[in-house]
Amino acid sequence: MQAACLVAGVMLIMAGCSQQDNRPETRKQQQTPAVFQSSQKFAELCAACHGVRARGGVGPDLTVSRFKYGKDRASIKKSILEGRPGGMPAFGAHIKPEDAAALADYLLSL
Ligand code: HEC
Repeated sequence: MQAACLVAGVMLIMAGCSQQDNRPETRKQQQTPAVFQSSQKFAELCAACHGVRARGGVGPDLTVSRFKYGKDRASIKKSILEGRPGGMPAFGAHIKPEDAAALADYLLSL
């Protein structure tokens, strides 16, 4: 019985570790759960174009200090929900405004 618990415990720890390895860089600062969830959402929806760590690819680097369309919560939210003419798709039909706001907070935390 004890051995079984130990094995289960070790497996739990290992599962925790491998999960940590898969997620984007989040160690820079303590993040709120909402921001952490957004980092996962970013990996899912945005990383294909902006890179896993938002450092750019097809889409621009989103870790820079100045954004073309403004680096503030409202402007970023607008970029996400309505898209931008240079190839940024509108996500308004796919994600909720509050998720877009949380994604904006995530980008502002990078
Ligand atoms: C199909 C590729 C693609 C996907 C997917 C994508 N983007 Fe973009 N994104 C772009 C491109 C290209 C631009 C540049 C648009 C322009 O300059 O007009 C951009 C611009 C932006 C901007 C504005 C940057 C600035 O300088 O003002 C933000 C913010 C942004 N994207 C966030 C996101 C987020 C968050 C997601 C995921 C929900 C996402 N993008 C998904 C391609 C993409």
